[in-house]
Amino acid sequence: MEIYLDNAATSMIDPRVSTAMLSCHDMKAMNASSAHKLGVVAATAIEKARAAIAREINAEPQELIFTSGGTESNNLALKGIAFANRERGKHIIVSQIEHMSIMETAKWLERQGFEITYLPVDREGFVSPSDVQKAIKRGTILVSIIHANNEIGTIEPIAEIGTICKSKKVYFHSDACQSFTREEIDVKSQNLDLVSLNAHKIHGPKGIGALYVRKTAKIEPLLHGGGQEGGRRSGTYNVEGIVGFGKAAEIAGEVDIKRLAELRDYFIQKIQSSIEKVDLNGPRIKRLCNNINLRFRSVNGQSLSRELSEKNIYVSAGSACLSTKVTPSHVLLAIGLEPERAQEAIRISLSRWTTLEEVDVVVQSLSEIVRRSREGG
Ligand SMILES: Cc1ncc(COP(=O)(O)O)c(C=O)c1O
Repeated sequence: MEIYLDNAATSMIDPRVSTAMLSCHDMKAMNASSAHKLGVVAATAIEKARAAIAREINAEPQELIFTSGGTESNNLALKGIAFANRERGKHIIVSQIEHMSIMETAKWLERQGFEITYLPVDREGFVSPSDVQKAIKRGTILVSIIHANNEIGTIEPIAEIGTICKSKKVYFHSDACQSFTREEIDVKSQNLDLVSLNAHKIHGPKGIGALYVRKTAKIEPLLHGGGQEGGRRSGTYNVEGIVGFGKAAEIAGEVDIKRLAELRDYFIQKIQSSIEKVDLNGPRIKRLCNNINLRFRSVNGQSLSRELSEKNIYVSAGSACLSTKVTPSHVLLAIGLEPERAQEAIRISLSRWTTLEEVDVVVQSLSEIVRRSREGG
């Protein structure tokens, strides 16, 4: 039996998504920019998917730009706004717990002469809206705050921050790759100007994402070429990927978020009652329904996830992008863990297919591995 609990890294493709993608071949969907009939078939399939995704965030379909995934969406949001609005100012605000695709883009922008403020978070990973308000100054053009953190699941006060940004006339971007379809995203009521999304966290294909850009926002493209997506992102359309993304968004509403959150809480409670000295990283409430991040004191997280893998149980030590590096997670450091303590964490992320039986098997295995490790064996 294999138990996959690394859904925050990526999730299994839903069979209905695969079927939808294969239908592109049956329909002979070709280059969506071609004027002939097979081009029109592809373009029609793309527009159907665009509408399904836009509906999930209360956006107009034309406000979505398809990209190659969350990383590109985040790059386009930050660089695109920075370069299109630099005559207004060169100051950008991000949090200290952003995904690496925001952190590294911010650092790159610093090297291009932009000024970046990295806002601290509290011990549960929350950004304070009043800190955002205080950090905005003359020359601030953009605030970018992750919607739900990919490592510790903290759901940030997006609507409050949106109100502040709107009143200060500063663009507001949120990386919603983890929260898309799991938490409410309403670009209108939450005053979001840009939102990054991807498909592979919601049982869709890898290598496809989208950036929502409010129609009034000024953005510079990263990729120049054939002028697709209204000139905002050139490149031949990934028709199969887009159709798969659309299908994944369309069926995501079936997921019982309440059941997942209850399963998450049962999992945490069961681990903490079966194993001593286990701390939860991140909040108990306002936490992503499928995220668990635990610190097993005196047990190395990398070794723990490796040993679980030997038993066909797949979790992650820190976040997947960091799992080949031995440096501690910047997110765990930002919530105040000492570097050695930050190495003792694992992330368990559930999916719609996670069962109670699986949870019980994992808790049993964890208990054995942690006991052996603490006994030095
Ligand atoms: C919060 C967040 N942002 C961005 C990304 C990057 O997305 P992608 O893998 O589609 O490039 C991820 C996925 O790892 C993520 O969890």
